Amino acid sequence: MKNKRKVLVTGGCGFIGANFVRLLHSRYDAWRVVNLDKLTYAGNLKNLEGIEEGNTYRFIRGDICDSELVAGLFAEEHFDTVVHFAAESHVDRSITGPGAFIRTNIEGTFSLLEAARQAGFADNGQGSQPCFLHISTDEVYGSLGQSGYFTETTPYDPRSPYSASKASSDHLASAYFHTYGLPVRITNCSNNYGPYQFPEKLIPLIFNNALHNKTLPVYGDGRNIRDWLYVQDHCEALVEVLEKGRNGQCYNIGGNNEKQNLEVVTLICDLLDKKLGLAPSGQPRRSLITFVPDRLGHDRRYAIDPTKIREQLGWQPRVTFAEGMEKTVDWYLANRPWVSDIVNGSYQKYYAEMYNNILNTHIK
Ligand code: NAD
Ligand code: DAU
Repeated sequence: MKNKRKVLVTGGCGFIGANFVRLLHSRYDAWRVVNLDKLTYAGNLKNLEGIEEGNTYRFIRGDICDSELVAGLFAEEHFDTVVHFAAESHVDRSITGPGAFIRTNIEGTFSLLEAARQAGFADNGQGSQPCFLHISTDEVYGSLGQSGYFTETTPYDPRSPYSASKASSDHLASAYFHTYGLPVRITNCSNNYGPYQFPEKLIPLIFNNALHNKTLPVYGDGRNIRDWLYVQDHCEALVEVLEKGRNGQCYNIGGNNEKQNLEVVTLICDLLDKKLGLAPSGQPRRSLITFVPDRLGHDRRYAIDPTKIREQLGWQPRVTFAEGMEKTVDWYLANRPWVSDIVNGSYQKYYAEMYNNILNTHIK
């Protein structure tokens, strides 16, 4: 992309958002990226350590539901691109407390779409600009049986409060394209893994427990299937959608990489055994696996058919699961303080001190 963009990234301090901001920063040094993030429990400024504020990067601590703040940012920055990651993202939390999911994922997306519309952020008929890229999930399609794949035309059938809130936000984004001509593109991606993933999600949670010789909780029979994609491959796909995608279109993104949860958990155990030696008990870390009661409404299988993005935009994943898991385990081993700061809560003190004044003005 030769053009310069002014990009609003929401949720840039989370797992995928931080990897995406890092990709833009390394590749498009003339772009201006404004990162709007509330710094919930899932946001961590350390995910963007090394990226300094200046002409090409600005951080705002704020809530996407704060429509005054969001409208002010559009007026001030004149964005031509929005990449909207900010969300409550963890299915288990949506089961125990759905309210925050409804607010952030639905009302927050509405607030951004409305600010973009009010700012006159409409299709200018010149191809790639402007663009409102709404980042969503394959979970909106529900659960597959033993065969078949999710395509862009699979009917929506969300089954958790999280996926229902994401489905709702997808429908809102799509409605803003059809009704107002807002240049919306939507991506629905499968399970990501890699650096900076919050250690409540399966892979970093199992890594951390296995490292500390704790039990490894596997829900149900451990045979649920997810289609895993290395996070940098996801971020590359998003750049392709920005660069070459078409407004009003949805793109499924996936790794053609279905694994049962038990396979993933045993792989992490085996990699740690190989790199660190056996657990202190002298047993392989697999012996820590403990079957626990199943997640309520646990979707059995997800699998993406990525034909559209491969054929229309030329994207395909570059990192195999074996390579990606090795890189991921190495990253978590090399960044143990990043994990332990989260587990002991000190990462929040770090940003609370840094952004105390902003917290008071921008968080309602
Ligand atoms: P995450 O939970 O790691 O990060 C979410 C970020 O959003 C955090 O930095 C958090 O502080 C911020 N945030 C939350 N509420 C906010 C609000 N009201 N205002 C401003 N910022 C707020 O999430 P993730 O795993 O990086 O997922 C990012 C996006 O990608 C989400 O929309 C998710 O639905 C989607 N997605 C995730 C995956 C996956 O495997 N993780 C797969 C497909 C799609
Ligand atoms: O498919 C995309 C989705 O992937 C994203 O939209 C979500 O934001 C993201 O969180 C992820 O959802 P999952 O529910 O699939 O991810 P999670 O890591 O929570 O769980 C992966 C699988 O592992 C799932 O079948 C539940 C199981 N699991 C999870 C945890 C945390 C366990 O067996 N034990 C656990 O402790």
